Formats: sequence, C-alpha cells, structure tokens
Amino acid sequence: MKTIRKAVFPVAGLGSRFLPATKAQPKEMLPIVDKPLIQYAVEEAVDAGITEMVFITGRNKRAIEDHFDKAYELEAELEAAGKDALLDLVQNVIPKNITCIFIRQSAPLGLGHAVLCARPVVGDEPFAVLLADDFMDVPPGQKGVLAQMTACFAEERASILAVQDVPRAETKQYGIVRASAYKPNLERCEAIVEKPMPEVAPSTLAVVGRYVLTNGIFDFLEGLGKGAGGEIQLTDGIAALMKVEPVLAYRYHGTRYDCGSKLGYLKATVAMGLKHAETGAGFTEYLNMRGH
Ligand code: G1P
Repeated sequence: MKTIRKAVFPVAGLGSRFLPATKAQPKEMLPIVDKPLIQYAVEEAVDAGITEMVFITGRNKRAIEDHFDKAYELEAELEAAGKDALLDLVQNVIPKNITCIFIRQSAPLGLGHAVLCARPVVGDEPFAVLLADDFMDVPPGQKGVLAQMTACFAEERASILAVQDVPRAETKQYGIVRASAYKPNLERCEAIVEKPMPEVAPSTLAVVGRYVLTNGIFDFLEGLGKGAGGEIQLTDGIAALMKVEPVLAYRYHGTRYDCGSKLGYLKATVAMGLKHAETGAGFTEYLNMRGH
C-alpha cells in the first residue's frame, strides 16, 4: 500500500495581486509575521509525513531555492557572533531528512500544467498538491490540514480535495464541486467545474489549495487543452479523473486564509501575530487599546 511521500508546490505564479511587493520576489516568500508562506506549507507537508518536496518554479523564484538551502555566509556570521538561537533557526528551516526538488515551468500555462511538470519525479505514486497562498491554520495540538487528508487517504485510497462552503457570489474564484453524502466531513464528488459564475455554479462547495491525488491524474492532464482563463486547469483533469475513479471532497478542520488576496493576507497576519510567542501579548494589548 503506497503512502503519500511526495508533495508538489506550484510556485511559478506571477503574484500580480501583490505588486509592487512581488516585482522582484516570489509571492510565496511574503511572510506571515516572520515565516514565509511557502515555509508554512512545507511544514504542513512535513507534519503529514511527506519527505520529498517538489517545487514547480519559474523565473524570479530563486529566493525559494535559497530559503531551503544552506546559507553559508549568514550561518558563519551568526556562529562567529555567538547568536546560537538564530543560527539554529536558519539551519532548521527544513528537517534534515527532507529532499527538495526544483523543476522549472518555463511558461505559465496553468495549475494543471504545473502539476504535470512534476510527473517525472512523482512517478507512479499518489501525491499531494499544496497551494502556499491558501494558508491553513489549525488550533494547537490538532493535525494539520494535509495530515488530516493523508490519514483519510490511508483509509479510502482515493483522491481527496479539501473543500469549504463559500458565499455564492464567490464561486467564480474557485473550483466548485457537486458532491453527495458519504461519511462525516467526507463526500463523493460527482462533478467539478473551474470558476463558475454564481448563476451556474453547481453548488457553493469550493476546493481550496490542498489535494491528495492518485497518479491517474497525469494521463488526463497530458491530454488537456486550455480551460477557464485560457489555462490548463487542474480542475479539468480532476473532472476527467472522477469519471473513472472515486474522488472525495473533504471538509477539513481548520481556518483558511486566502493569502493570494491582500485582505486574506492581512487577516492571517493578525491571527498569527496574536498567537506568536514574541508578538502575541504586545499585539493583543495594542489591538485592545485601539478598541478591536
Ligand atoms: C486555484 C484552482 C481552483 C481552486 C483555488 C483554491 O485557483 O484553480 O480550482 O479553487 O486555486 O485557492 P487560483 O486561486 O490559483 O486562481
């Protein structure tokens, strides 16, 4: 029985909603308090037992490679200055047993195409996909969202999409599924459509950026033409997959912040700032003082 060992992080997007901040740096390197979005996503994958991180990168994304690599000069300086706590932080951005693999997606052809770029390293295994700008927060002591999904995969052996209900007016921002009852928090997908207008959306159950997929998806992605927005859509590959094998929709436990939008990013910053060991007390006091 295969377990999920590999995670794919599509990080080639332009981040145009955060310009000019993302003119010369990847949007995935934007910090929530003191940690970049991509590091939170990688930690979530590590927490789910994943050991191979496959980044689908593009131009301007070198900072992501550097972030997960050794930083010789910085480490030497910190060591010489006796700043052991900071040195430890820098050296342990990622656990030692984790492998990072970087693949360049030379043209921004869409999420489906980005996932397909991972095929040579994923091989014939099931795998996870994490979109780092969907930032997932869970209460202390709770399993991360991806770990919830891999546990579910271990039982169901089927592809699983993380879903949540959204206001109908927002269906055009998401992949939307039509699903039928199966188990608590788990539904069987019957259809999925990318970014439907509210009037035609089959439901308000939206896919957020966490997927566990069987490798059967790759054949379908290979054969896809352009879909919504002129891009090769992962959603269209999943639509084809669910015609031949079960695909499940999982209502995860946790809070999702859409850090692809400024407002979501600010909300995540506030939530994490209130919890952070260093800023929590001071930030709480500050917000209380301002009457929030
Ligand atoms: C992508 C997917 C969409 C999914 C969303 C979740 O869209 O194409 O199906 O619902 O992520 O965040 P994007 O937000 O990249 O436009």
